[in-house]
Amino acid sequence: EKVIQVGLLGMGTVGSGVVKLLAANAQDIARKVGAPVRIKKVLVRDPEKPRPGLLPDQLVFDAAAVIDDADIDIIVEVMGGEQPAKDYILQALNRGKHVVTANKDVVAKYGRELFAAAEANHVDFLFEASVGGGIPIIRPLKQCLAANKISEVMGIVNGTTNYMLTQMTQHRLDFATALRQAQAAGYAEADPTADVGGWDAARKIAILASIAFGTRVTVDDVYVEGITTIGAEDIEYARELGYVLKLLAVAKETDKGIDVRVHPAFIPHHHPLAAVQDVFNAIYVRGDAVGETMFYGRGAGQMPTASAVVADIIDVARDIRHHVSSRILCTCYEQKPLCPIEQ
Ligand code: NDP
Ligand code: HSE
Repeated sequence: EKVIQVGLLGMGTVGSGVVKLLAANAQDIARKVGAPVRIKKVLVRDPEKPRPGLLPDQLVFDAAAVIDDADIDIIVEVMGGEQPAKDYILQALNRGKHVVTANKDVVAKYGRELFAAAEANHVDFLFEASVGGGIPIIRPLKQCLAANKISEVMGIVNGTTNYMLTQMTQHRLDFATALRQAQAAGYAEADPTADVGGWDAARKIAILASIAFGTRVTVDDVYVEGITTIGAEDIEYARELGYVLKLLAVAKETDKGIDVRVHPAFIPHHHPLAAVQDVFNAIYVRGDAVGETMFYGRGAGQMPTASAVVADIIDVARDIRHHVSSRILCTCYEQKPLCPIEQ
Protein backbone atom coordinates (compact mmCIF):
# COMPACT_ATOMS: atom_id res chain seq x y z
CA GLU A 1 0.00 0.00 0.00
CA LYS A 2 1.30 3.46 -0.92
CA VAL A 3 2.02 5.68 2.08
CA ILE A 4 2.16 9.43 1.39
CA GLN A 5 5.37 10.66 3.01
CA VAL A 6 5.72 14.20 4.33
CA GLY A 7 8.90 16.15 5.12
CA LEU A 8 8.38 19.02 7.53
CA LEU A 9 10.67 22.07 7.48
CA GLY A 10 10.18 23.62 10.95
CA MET A 11 8.42 22.42 14.09
CA GLY A 12 7.51 25.55 16.01
CA THR A 13 3.96 26.73 16.72
CA VAL A 14 2.50 25.68 13.36
CA GLY A 15 4.72 22.65 12.69
CA SER A 16 3.87 21.16 16.10
CA GLY A 17 0.18 21.68 15.30
CA VAL A 18 0.61 19.84 11.99
CA VAL A 19 2.29 16.90 13.78
CA LYS A 20 -0.55 16.77 16.35
CA LEU A 21 -3.36 17.04 13.81
CA LEU A 22 -1.93 14.43 11.41
CA ALA A 23 -1.64 12.05 14.39
CA ALA A 24 -5.02 12.85 15.98
CA ASN A 25 -7.01 12.45 12.75
CA ALA A 26 -4.77 9.88 11.05
CA GLN A 27 -7.48 7.32 10.30
CA ASP A 28 -9.95 9.85 9.03
CA ILE A 29 -7.29 11.50 6.85
CA ALA A 30 -6.21 8.11 5.46
CA ARG A 31 -9.84 7.41 4.52
CA LYS A 32 -10.18 10.80 2.82
CA VAL A 33 -6.94 10.40 0.89
CA GLY A 34 -7.18 6.67 0.21
CA ALA A 35 -3.71 6.14 1.74
CA PRO A 36 -2.01 6.85 5.07
CA VAL A 37 -0.20 10.19 5.37
CA ARG A 38 2.95 10.04 7.53
CA ILE A 39 5.65 12.45 8.57
CA LYS A 40 9.00 10.93 7.65
CA LYS A 41 11.46 13.69 8.61
CA VAL A 42 11.38 17.04 10.38
CA LEU A 43 13.99 19.78 9.99
CA VAL A 44 14.69 21.90 13.09
CA ARG A 45 17.55 24.07 14.37
CA ASP A 46 17.78 23.44 18.09
CA PRO A 47 18.77 19.92 19.19
CA GLU A 48 17.91 20.68 22.83
CA LYS A 49 14.19 21.47 22.48
CA PRO A 50 11.74 18.68 23.34
CA ARG A 51 9.77 17.47 20.29
CA PRO A 52 6.62 15.72 21.54
CA GLY A 53 5.03 13.35 19.04
CA LEU A 54 8.28 12.61 17.16
CA LEU A 55 10.76 9.76 17.30
CA PRO A 56 14.43 10.83 17.55
CA ASP A 57 15.25 9.41 14.11
CA GLN A 58 12.61 11.65 12.50
CA LEU A 59 14.54 14.80 13.49
CA VAL A 60 17.17 16.21 11.14
CA PHE A 61 19.31 19.34 11.21
CA ASP A 62 20.27 19.47 7.55
CA ALA A 63 17.65 20.57 5.00
CA ALA A 64 19.09 18.34 2.26
CA ALA A 65 18.25 15.28 4.36
CA VAL A 66 14.56 16.16 3.89
CA ILE A 67 14.51 17.78 0.45
CA ASP A 68 16.70 15.12 -1.19
CA ASP A 69 14.92 12.15 0.39
CA ALA A 70 13.53 10.25 -2.59
CA ASP A 71 10.72 8.71 -0.49
CA ILE A 72 9.28 12.08 0.53
CA ASP A 73 6.36 13.21 -1.64
CA ILE A 74 5.36 16.49 0.05
CA ILE A 75 7.54 19.16 1.63
CA VAL A 76 5.72 21.32 4.20
CA GLU A 77 7.55 24.59 4.89
CA VAL A 78 6.61 26.06 8.28
CA MET A 79 9.93 27.67 9.22
CA GLY A 80 9.00 31.23 8.37
CA GLY A 81 11.10 34.13 7.09
CA GLU A 82 12.28 34.78 3.55
CA GLN A 83 15.54 32.83 3.58
CA PRO A 84 16.47 30.03 3.62
CA ALA A 85 12.75 29.12 3.34
CA LYS A 86 12.45 30.39 -0.25
CA ASP A 87 15.54 28.47 -1.41
CA TYR A 88 14.34 25.29 0.25
CA ILE A 89 10.92 25.58 -1.38
CA LEU A 90 12.48 26.19 -4.79
CA GLN A 91 14.88 23.26 -4.38
CA ALA A 92 11.99 21.00 -3.38
CA LEU A 93 9.85 22.06 -6.38
CA ASN A 94 12.79 21.53 -8.72
CA ARG A 95 13.28 18.03 -7.30
CA GLY A 96 9.67 17.26 -8.22
CA LYS A 97 8.26 17.49 -4.67
CA HIS A 98 4.85 19.01 -3.99
CA VAL A 99 5.10 21.92 -1.56
CA VAL A 100 2.71 23.27 1.09
CA THR A 101 3.62 26.46 2.95
CA ALA A 102 2.17 28.87 5.52
CA ASN A 103 4.79 31.48 4.66
CA LYS A 104 3.29 34.75 3.40
CA ASP A 105 6.70 36.47 3.31
CA VAL A 106 7.81 34.01 0.65
CA VAL A 107 4.52 33.81 -1.27
CA ALA A 108 4.13 37.61 -1.40
CA LYS A 109 7.69 38.22 -2.57
CA TYR A 110 8.62 35.16 -4.64
CA GLY A 111 5.19 33.77 -5.59
CA ARG A 112 5.65 34.28 -9.32
CA GLU A 113 8.99 32.40 -9.44
CA LEU A 114 7.66 29.59 -7.26
CA PHE A 115 4.43 29.16 -9.25
CA ALA A 116 6.54 28.95 -12.42
CA ALA A 117 8.79 26.30 -10.84
CA ALA A 118 5.76 24.29 -9.68
CA GLU A 119 4.20 24.50 -13.15
CA ALA A 120 7.45 23.49 -14.87
CA ASN A 121 7.84 20.50 -12.56
CA HIS A 122 4.14 19.48 -12.68
CA VAL A 123 3.74 19.63 -8.92
CA ASP A 124 1.37 21.38 -6.52
CA PHE A 125 2.31 24.51 -4.59
CA LEU A 126 -0.39 25.32 -2.00
CA PHE A 127 -0.43 28.11 0.59
CA GLU A 128 -3.91 28.29 2.18
CA ALA A 129 -2.48 29.05 5.66
CA SER A 130 -0.52 32.06 4.42
CA VAL A 131 -3.59 34.31 4.78
CA GLY A 132 -6.24 34.20 7.50
CA GLY A 133 -4.78 31.31 9.56
CA GLY A 134 -7.57 28.72 9.70
CA ILE A 135 -10.01 30.68 7.52
CA PRO A 136 -10.52 29.27 4.04
CA ILE A 137 -9.80 32.23 1.74
CA ILE A 138 -7.17 31.35 -0.90
CA ARG A 139 -9.13 28.41 -2.32
CA PRO A 140 -12.49 30.24 -2.20
CA LEU A 141 -10.98 33.19 -4.08
CA LYS A 142 -9.23 31.03 -6.67
CA GLN A 143 -11.95 28.44 -7.12
CA CYS A 144 -15.37 29.02 -5.58
CA LEU A 145 -15.54 32.70 -6.61
CA ALA A 146 -13.72 32.24 -9.94
CA ALA A 147 -16.84 33.12 -11.94
CA ASN A 148 -16.91 36.66 -10.52
CA LYS A 149 -15.20 39.89 -11.39
CA ILE A 150 -13.96 40.90 -7.94
CA SER A 151 -14.12 44.61 -7.12
CA GLU A 152 -12.97 44.59 -3.49
CA VAL A 153 -11.26 42.43 -0.85
CA MET A 154 -11.00 43.95 2.60
CA GLY A 155 -10.95 43.18 6.29
CA ILE A 156 -8.89 42.24 9.31
CA VAL A 157 -6.04 39.90 8.33
CA ASN A 158 -3.62 40.05 11.25
CA GLY A 159 -4.48 38.12 14.41
CA THR A 160 -1.75 39.60 16.60
CA THR A 161 -2.78 43.23 16.13
CA ASN A 162 -6.49 42.46 16.37
CA TYR A 163 -5.82 40.59 19.62
CA MET A 164 -3.72 43.50 20.91
CA LEU A 165 -6.26 46.17 19.96
CA THR A 166 -9.03 44.11 21.60
CA GLN A 167 -7.02 43.76 24.82
CA MET A 168 -6.07 47.44 24.79
CA THR A 169 -9.75 48.41 24.27
CA GLN A 170 -11.54 45.98 26.57
CA HIS A 171 -9.00 45.46 29.35
CA ARG A 172 -7.03 48.70 28.94
CA LEU A 173 -3.77 46.76 28.59
CA ASP A 174 -0.76 48.76 27.46
CA PHE A 175 0.80 48.05 24.05
CA ALA A 176 3.83 46.08 25.36
CA THR A 177 1.76 43.81 27.62
CA ALA A 178 -0.77 43.13 24.87
CA LEU A 179 2.07 42.23 22.47
CA ARG A 180 3.69 39.91 25.04
CA GLN A 181 0.36 38.08 25.45
CA ALA A 182 -0.04 37.70 21.67
CA GLN A 183 3.49 36.27 21.47
CA ALA A 184 2.84 33.87 24.36
CA ALA A 185 -0.31 32.64 22.58
CA GLY A 186 1.75 31.80 19.45
CA TYR A 187 0.02 34.40 17.26
CA ALA A 188 2.95 36.72 16.52
CA GLU A 189 5.73 36.26 13.98
CA ALA A 190 9.19 35.30 15.32
CA ASP A 191 9.99 39.00 14.85
CA PRO A 192 6.72 40.80 15.71
CA THR A 193 7.83 44.00 13.95
CA ALA A 194 6.01 42.76 10.85
CA ASP A 195 2.78 42.31 12.80
CA VAL A 196 2.67 45.65 14.61
CA GLY A 197 4.21 47.54 11.66
CA GLY A 198 1.44 46.38 9.31
CA TRP A 199 3.82 44.45 7.02
CA ASP A 200 2.33 41.05 7.76
CA ALA A 201 -1.10 42.40 6.78
CA ALA A 202 0.47 44.06 3.72
CA ARG A 203 1.92 40.72 2.55
CA LYS A 204 -1.46 39.07 3.02
CA ILE A 205 -3.45 41.73 1.17
CA ALA A 206 -0.84 41.66 -1.64
CA ILE A 207 -1.43 37.90 -1.98
CA LEU A 208 -5.23 38.31 -1.91
CA ALA A 209 -5.17 41.24 -4.36
CA SER A 210 -2.97 39.29 -6.79
CA ILE A 211 -5.45 36.43 -6.81
CA ALA A 212 -8.62 38.56 -6.76
CA PHE A 213 -7.57 40.89 -9.56
CA GLY A 214 -5.48 38.42 -11.59
CA THR A 215 -2.48 40.73 -11.50
CA ARG A 216 0.79 40.97 -9.62
CA VAL A 217 0.61 43.04 -6.45
CA THR A 218 3.68 43.14 -4.22
CA VAL A 219 4.25 44.65 -0.79
CA ASP A 220 5.92 47.61 -2.56
CA ASP A 221 2.49 48.46 -4.05
CA VAL A 222 0.81 48.62 -0.62
CA TYR A 223 0.43 51.77 1.48
CA VAL A 224 1.36 50.52 4.98
CA GLU A 225 0.68 52.04 8.36
CA GLY A 226 0.75 49.78 11.42
CA ILE A 227 -0.37 50.20 15.03
CA THR A 228 2.97 51.18 16.58
CA THR A 229 1.82 54.73 17.26
CA ILE A 230 -1.58 53.72 18.69
CA GLY A 231 -1.92 54.51 22.37
CA ALA A 232 -4.57 54.45 25.07
CA GLU A 233 -5.68 58.00 24.12
CA ASP A 234 -6.52 56.94 20.51
CA ILE A 235 -8.57 54.02 21.78
CA GLU A 236 -10.35 56.23 24.30
CA TYR A 237 -11.05 58.87 21.65
CA ALA A 238 -12.56 56.19 19.36
CA ARG A 239 -14.69 54.88 22.22
CA GLU A 240 -16.04 58.38 23.05
CA LEU A 241 -17.06 58.88 19.42
CA GLY A 242 -18.76 55.46 19.17
CA TYR A 243 -16.04 53.74 17.16
CA VAL A 244 -13.64 50.81 17.55
CA LEU A 245 -10.04 50.94 16.31
CA LYS A 246 -9.10 48.15 13.89
CA LEU A 247 -6.16 47.51 11.59
CA LEU A 248 -7.73 47.18 8.14
CA ALA A 249 -6.32 45.79 4.90
CA VAL A 250 -8.10 46.93 1.74
CA ALA A 251 -7.65 46.14 -1.96
CA LYS A 252 -10.17 47.67 -4.36
CA GLU A 253 -10.55 48.61 -7.97
CA THR A 254 -10.80 52.39 -8.51
CA ASP A 255 -10.85 54.66 -11.60
CA LYS A 256 -7.11 55.19 -11.13
CA GLY A 257 -6.20 51.51 -10.75
CA ILE A 258 -6.08 48.98 -7.93
CA ASP A 259 -5.71 50.65 -4.55
CA VAL A 260 -4.07 48.48 -1.86
CA ARG A 261 -3.61 49.72 1.69
CA VAL A 262 -3.15 48.74 5.33
CA HIS A 263 -3.89 51.23 8.10
CA PRO A 264 -5.71 51.63 11.41
CA ALA A 265 -9.31 52.81 11.00
CA PHE A 266 -12.22 53.91 13.17
CA ILE A 267 -15.04 51.38 12.68
CA PRO A 268 -18.57 52.28 13.85
CA HIS A 269 -19.80 50.06 16.73
CA HIS A 270 -22.66 48.65 14.63
CA HIS A 271 -20.39 47.51 11.75
CA PRO A 272 -19.78 43.71 11.70
CA LEU A 273 -15.98 44.29 11.68
CA ALA A 274 -16.28 46.01 15.07
CA ALA A 275 -17.39 42.67 16.52
CA VAL A 276 -14.32 40.81 15.21
CA GLN A 277 -12.30 40.39 18.39
CA ASP A 278 -9.10 38.84 19.73
CA VAL A 279 -7.32 36.55 17.27
CA PHE A 280 -10.29 36.42 14.90
CA ASN A 281 -9.98 37.75 11.35
CA ALA A 282 -12.74 38.63 8.88
CA ILE A 283 -12.35 39.12 5.15
CA TYR A 284 -15.02 40.56 2.84
CA VAL A 285 -14.95 39.77 -0.86
CA ARG A 286 -17.27 41.60 -3.27
CA GLY A 287 -17.96 39.93 -6.63
CA ASP A 288 -20.22 41.06 -9.49
CA ALA A 289 -22.34 37.89 -9.40
CA VAL A 290 -22.21 36.81 -5.77
CA GLY A 291 -22.35 40.28 -4.17
CA GLU A 292 -20.76 40.51 -0.75
CA THR A 293 -19.29 37.45 1.02
CA MET A 294 -17.59 37.35 4.38
CA PHE A 295 -15.01 34.84 5.67
CA TYR A 296 -14.55 34.72 9.44
CA GLY A 297 -12.53 32.66 11.90
CA ARG A 298 -9.30 32.36 13.86
CA GLY A 299 -6.61 34.19 11.91
CA ALA A 300 -3.60 32.76 13.76
CA GLY A 301 -2.67 30.17 16.39
CA GLN A 302 -1.43 26.61 16.40
CA MET A 303 -4.40 24.41 15.61
CA PRO A 304 -6.41 26.79 13.36
CA THR A 305 -3.30 27.26 11.20
CA ALA A 306 -2.55 23.53 11.27
CA SER A 307 -6.12 23.02 10.02
CA ALA A 308 -5.30 24.96 6.83
CA VAL A 309 -1.85 23.36 6.37
CA VAL A 310 -3.17 19.82 6.82
CA ALA A 311 -6.06 20.52 4.42
CA ASP A 312 -3.45 21.45 1.80
CA ILE A 313 -1.51 18.26 2.59
CA ILE A 314 -4.71 16.23 2.12
CA ASP A 315 -5.38 17.96 -1.19
CA VAL A 316 -1.88 17.23 -2.47
CA ALA A 317 -2.04 13.65 -1.15
CA ARG A 318 -5.27 13.10 -3.09
CA ASP A 319 -3.58 14.45 -6.21
CA ILE A 320 -0.71 12.03 -5.69
CA ARG A 321 -3.16 9.13 -5.29
CA HIS A 322 -4.99 10.13 -8.47
CA HIS A 323 -1.86 11.02 -10.45
CA VAL A 324 -2.89 14.63 -11.12
CA SER A 325 -1.12 17.85 -10.18
CA SER A 326 -0.68 21.58 -10.74
CA ARG A 327 -4.37 22.28 -10.39
CA ILE A 328 -4.25 25.80 -8.95
CA LEU A 329 -1.20 27.66 -9.96
CA CYS A 330 -0.36 31.15 -11.13
CA THR A 331 -3.29 33.52 -11.18
CA CYS A 332 -1.50 36.63 -12.47
CA TYR A 333 -2.75 36.93 -16.01
CA GLU A 334 -1.88 40.52 -16.91
CA GLN A 335 -0.32 43.51 -15.18
CA LYS A 336 -3.08 45.97 -14.27
CA PRO A 337 -2.53 49.59 -13.21
CA LEU A 338 -1.97 50.12 -9.50
CA CYS A 339 -2.63 53.35 -7.59
CA PRO A 340 0.52 55.25 -6.63
CA ILE A 341 1.28 55.11 -2.91
CA GLU A 342 0.54 58.40 -1.12
CA GLN A 343 3.16 59.55 1.35
P1 NDP B 1 8.03 29.38 14.92
O1 NDP B 1 9.07 30.42 15.07
O2 NDP B 1 7.22 28.98 16.09
O3 NDP B 1 8.70 28.03 14.36
C1 NDP B 1 9.68 28.02 13.37
C2 NDP B 1 10.26 26.61 13.26
O4 NDP B 1 11.16 26.58 12.17
C3 NDP B 1 11.04 26.16 14.49
O5 NDP B 1 10.84 24.79 14.70
C4 NDP B 1 12.50 26.42 14.11
O6 NDP B 1 13.41 25.52 14.69
C5 NDP B 1 12.46 26.15 12.62
N1 NDP B 1 13.45 26.93 11.88
C6 NDP B 1 13.45 28.25 11.66
N2 NDP B 1 14.50 28.60 10.89
C7 NDP B 1 15.19 27.46 10.65
C8 NDP B 1 16.37 27.16 9.94
N3 NDP B 1 17.09 28.10 9.32
N4 NDP B 1 16.78 25.87 9.87
C9 NDP B 1 16.06 24.89 10.51
N5 NDP B 1 14.92 25.12 11.19
C10 NDP B 1 14.51 26.39 11.27
O7 NDP B 1 7.10 29.86 13.71
P2 NDP B 1 5.55 29.58 13.50
O8 NDP B 1 5.29 28.13 13.60
O9 NDP B 1 4.74 30.53 14.31
O10 NDP B 1 5.37 30.07 11.99
C11 NDP B 1 5.83 29.29 10.91
C12 NDP B 1 5.31 29.88 9.60
O11 NDP B 1 3.88 29.87 9.61
C13 NDP B 1 5.70 31.35 9.37
O12 NDP B 1 5.88 31.55 7.99
C14 NDP B 1 4.47 32.12 9.83
O13 NDP B 1 4.33 33.38 9.22
C15 NDP B 1 3.38 31.18 9.37
N6 NDP B 1 2.11 31.31 10.07
C16 NDP B 1 2.11 31.32 11.45
C17 NDP B 1 0.91 31.41 12.11
C18 NDP B 1 0.84 31.42 13.60
O14 NDP B 1 -0.26 31.59 14.14
N7 NDP B 1 1.93 31.25 14.31
C19 NDP B 1 -0.36 31.52 11.38
C20 NDP B 1 -0.25 31.48 9.94
C21 NDP B 1 0.96 31.39 9.33
P3 NDP B 1 13.61 25.37 16.28
O15 NDP B 1 12.35 24.74 16.79
O16 NDP B 1 14.79 24.45 16.40
O17 NDP B 1 13.82 26.75 16.80
N1 HSE C 1 1.46 36.71 12.90
C1 HSE C 1 0.33 36.38 12.08
C2 HSE C 1 -0.90 37.03 12.66
C3 HSE C 1 0.15 34.89 12.03
O1 HSE C 1 -0.85 37.44 13.82
O2 HSE C 1 -1.89 37.17 11.94
C4 HSE C 1 -0.93 34.47 11.06
O3 HSE C 1 -0.57 34.71 9.74
